[in-house]
This record gives sequence, structure tokens and C-alpha cells, in this order.
Amino acid sequence: MTQYNNILIVGSGGREHSIGWKLSNDTEKKVFFAPGNGGTERNIDIESDNIMKLFEFAKKNNSLTIVGPEKPLSLGIVDLFERGRLPIFGPNRNASRLESSKVFAKLFMRNTGIRTAPFSIFSDPNRAIEYVRSSSKNVVVKVDGLAAGKGVFVCENDGEAEVAVRRIFVNNEFITSDNKIVIEDRIYGDEASIIAICDGKSTIPLASSQDHKNILDGDKGPNTGGMGSYSPTPLITENLGNKITEKIMQPTIKGLNNLGIKFKGFLYAGVMIERGSNEPYVLEFNVRMGDPECQSILSRMDSNLLHYLEAAMDERLDSMPPIKWKNKHSVCVVMASSGYPGEYQSGKVIHGLDIKLDNDNDTYVFHSGTKKNSRGEILTNGGRVLSVTSLDDTLEGAKNRSYSVASQIHWGENEEYYRKDIALKGIKYMKSPFSN
Ligand code: GLY
Repeated sequence: MTQYNNILIVGSGGREHSIGWKLSNDTEKKVFFAPGNGGTERNIDIESDNIMKLFEFAKKNNSLTIVGPEKPLSLGIVDLFERGRLPIFGPNRNASRLESSKVFAKLFMRNTGIRTAPFSIFSDPNRAIEYVRSSSKNVVVKVDGLAAGKGVFVCENDGEAEVAVRRIFVNNEFITSDNKIVIEDRIYGDEASIIAICDGKSTIPLASSQDHKNILDGDKGPNTGGMGSYSPTPLITENLGNKITEKIMQPTIKGLNNLGIKFKGFLYAGVMIERGSNEPYVLEFNVRMGDPECQSILSRMDSNLLHYLEAAMDERLDSMPPIKWKNKHSVCVVMASSGYPGEYQSGKVIHGLDIKLDNDNDTYVFHSGTKKNSRGEILTNGGRVLSVTSLDDTLEGAKNRSYSVASQIHWGENEEYYRKDIALKGIKYMKSPFSN
């Protein structure tokens, strides 16, 4: 691949902070962030969707660029960099449609024979509502375009589905690329996040993880970007992991190839393991690392991540050994601004960040919505603020460690919020010893 001197990470979340942390351990090269956050160093003042400015920076600084979020990918940052012969890790614009269009992803899965819930596509609200009323199943309503994890409505009954349809079509709460929605049958079971590094031909799976998408304990309340994660999840046994690789990840890369699309980057399948059948259904594809899954996965990674990213760009993943993982469990608790995913305040000084870091070598506090002021204080600057991520020999131990650290971090009375049940599901269905 093209030689490079520096690394540029695009994005500002906990995902990007953890990728930067891992790469800084893997290489002597300087790691820059655009725009980064209050916890990252060498921040460049360029927003993650300003792909022209990112190109100029990468060219001038001879950088390898690694893209965190979906937006610049869907805008074609990879196509732009490849035209300019700059090294970049991520899928191109066409491949990114797996995430940027739910309609494209569902039709692709149907045509490729990848198991997914039965669905219909609507552009007319009345027809959508008629369909909901006539269906004997509960449904999930999905906005077609990108919606930061908030455009999916998992409905308990027809009334909720009708409200979702109206919010999308009548209230226009989301920007949908072509004014379409997907309505699919709701599958009941347990969800896991399966992420692989892909080079357009082969895939290498990362450790499994499980996200906690709802804002409230017990998976209640509206969806968020993700309120916590743990890795590995005992839900994904070795057999199931192999099945997902063979029936989902590899066919996806092959199916895209058949469409003339080469997928290089992180491929993320959100899968539902159906209760009863134990079969994995793809709920959604993402074309990047998950946030907060990335934090719990990379904190366990023993192998050199950069070597795998380089191998993927060079299309030689098939010559790489399986990735080595620490024989430990990780739990990531997301601390959010009170009010998220609705309205919240920013600009609060965060206290307690130093206390924990000195005392705890197996805990990492990755920053998301934070910024540093001129006095060097760290302020809140977004909905999801910090990802407190700990490792331990047991899942319970990792959970306790993360919560103990989180309880020492404050930015005002009742100003911080976090779920109290991250990883409890994993502890509950962990019957067998470590299996990943
Ligand atoms: N945690 C879910 C996502 O990254 O989309």
C-alpha cells in the first residue's frame, strides 16, 4: 500500500477515541483526530463530514485515514481519497449504502438469501398504516436514510406503529433520502453485534459484543446511539459465530461483489438470535465499527489492529492469523447528559476523571461529547459524554469495576445519566465458561 507517515482518525466519539488509543499502542506514528474531543490529543479543527478539507489535511500530512462514523462514508470520502491515491480505511460510497439505505439493505438481503425479517417498503403513509392494521404481527418501522440510531421504531402494538409512521411522514422528524420507509415483522430474541474486518474478498471476525440501545434499564424507552456494551457475549457461541460468518458476513461480501461493489472496511451486522429457533436474523448492517461496541472490543484486542487494517487495504486478509483477544471480559458503561436522547445541556465541568485513572490500570475512560476549555478543564459537549470501559476476569467483575469508576465521575447534581444494568443480560445467560 501507499506509504504514510501519520494516521488521521475521522470522528469525535468514544469509538474514535478507542481506535486512536489502540493504534497509539500499536505504532509509533502520530495519530491525529478530526475533529476529536476533549479526551483526544492532536485534534484538527475539521468536521467529520467536510471531506474536501480532510483530503487536504491527509495529503499535506501524508496520512493514512481511518473513518469512524457513517456520514463521511456515505458522502464518498473513500472514493475521493482513492481517486487522489491517498490511503484510507473504510467502504466506498456504493458499499456504504448497506447502512445509508435500509431499503437497499433489505432488498440486498432478500436477493442474496441472507436471513432477515419479512418486510415491505412504503412511500405513502396511508398505505403504510393500512398495512400495519392488516398485519397480524407486531412490526418495526425504519426510516430509510441515516438517523444516528434513532430512526428505528420497535413497536409493541399497531398504535405505536401508526405513531411512528406519522412521525416520519407527517411530522417530517427525519430526513429520508427518498421518502421511503421499511416496515418489517418484529423478530423476538436477543441481539448481538457482529463486526468483521473485510478486504473485499475475505472477512476476519472481531470478538462478539452486545449493545444496549434503549435509554432506560430493562431495554425500555426510546432508542439511542447505544448506552453500553460488553464483549464477548455468551449469546454467540463458537458454532453460532461460525454460522454468522458463513451465512451472513461472507455472503454479504460475495453478494456485493456480484453487484460490482468491493467492501473494504468494518462490516457490522446487528443480528437477532430468534428465541426458539436460535437462528440469526440480520436486523441491520452498519459499515463501520459500532459505538459503544468498539470500546469494549478494542480494549480486549491483543493483536496489532493496524496490521489488520493495512492487510485489508492490501487485500491480503486471507494471509493473516486469527486475531488474539485478552482472556478477559470488558464492560463499557456510557455516561450521558441528563435528558439525552431528547434535549440536554452542555458545557458542564466534568469532575473525577483523574481520580480513577491513577488507581485503575484496567479501566479506560473514552471520551465522546467532551471538549477542553482554555483552563484545561474537560466540559460536557454532547449527549453521550464518556464511555467507562473496564476489563476483568469475569463479566460481573468488569461490570462492577466500570460502575465503581462511573460513580466517581460527576458534572452536576442529576446532570449525568447512565443505565445501571449494562451486561446484566450477559451475566444472566452465561451458563457455560468462556467460549469466544
Ligand atoms: N451501537 C450501535 C451503533 O453503533 O450503530
